Amino acid sequence: MTSTPLKITTLSIADLEQIDAICQHYPLLNWNAVKLHETLAHPNSLTLGLFQASELLAFALFNYVVDEAELLIIATHVDVRQQGYARMLFQEALKALRQKDIQKIFLEVRPSNAVALRLYERMGFSRVGLRKQYYPDYEDALILSIDL
Ligand SMILES: CC(C)(COP(=O)(O)OP(=O)(O)OC[C@H]1O[C@@H](n2cnc3c(N)ncnc32)[C@H](O)[C@@H]1OP(=O)(O)O)[C@@H](O)C(=O)NCCC(=O)NCCS
Repeated sequence: MTSTPLKITTLSIADLEQIDAICQHYPLLNWNAVKLHETLAHPNSLTLGLFQASELLAFALFNYVVDEAELLIIATHVDVRQQGYARMLFQEALKALRQKDIQKIFLEVRPSNAVALRLYERMGFSRVGLRKQYYPDYEDALILSIDL
């Protein structure tokens, strides 16, 4: 039996419901439909979704200014984690951002989010700073970056 191939494409407002459904499982990310809508509509954003047929399995949102980008969020549907989907999205995003002449990507992550930290470090990000009590619940944020 052959399974439907995976496809990575740019997200659109039509995907908002599926993105929101993935986010619902991760309340600590603190994303809502309004914030997602604004990001999808922003001209300087890179929004990638990994689909199987019409089903969204994982997505990543970046924005960029001049030659620097920021990862805003990356998430994989709770039922299909640890199958390499976030890694695939990252690889595609790094390629797309290089084509836009982006030189550096930054991101913030909770020190308690060990899974995300491991993903980022595996993708080549290094720790470059700490923002004290950055999150609404006062957890610090680690700042990571990668040179492209
Ligand atoms: C972080 C997240 C996006 C990873 O997605 P995923 O599709 O399961 O990740 P992948 O299968 O592509 O794994 C890639 C790497 O991430 C790390 N990783 C993923 N799941 C892990 C786990 N449960 N434990 C430890 N490391 C893990 C590993 O380094 C893995 O590579 P490796 O297996 O070669 O070591 C996913 O767990 C998620 O959506 N978490 C909630 C949202 C979130 O916290 N996002 C990050 C902040 S915006």
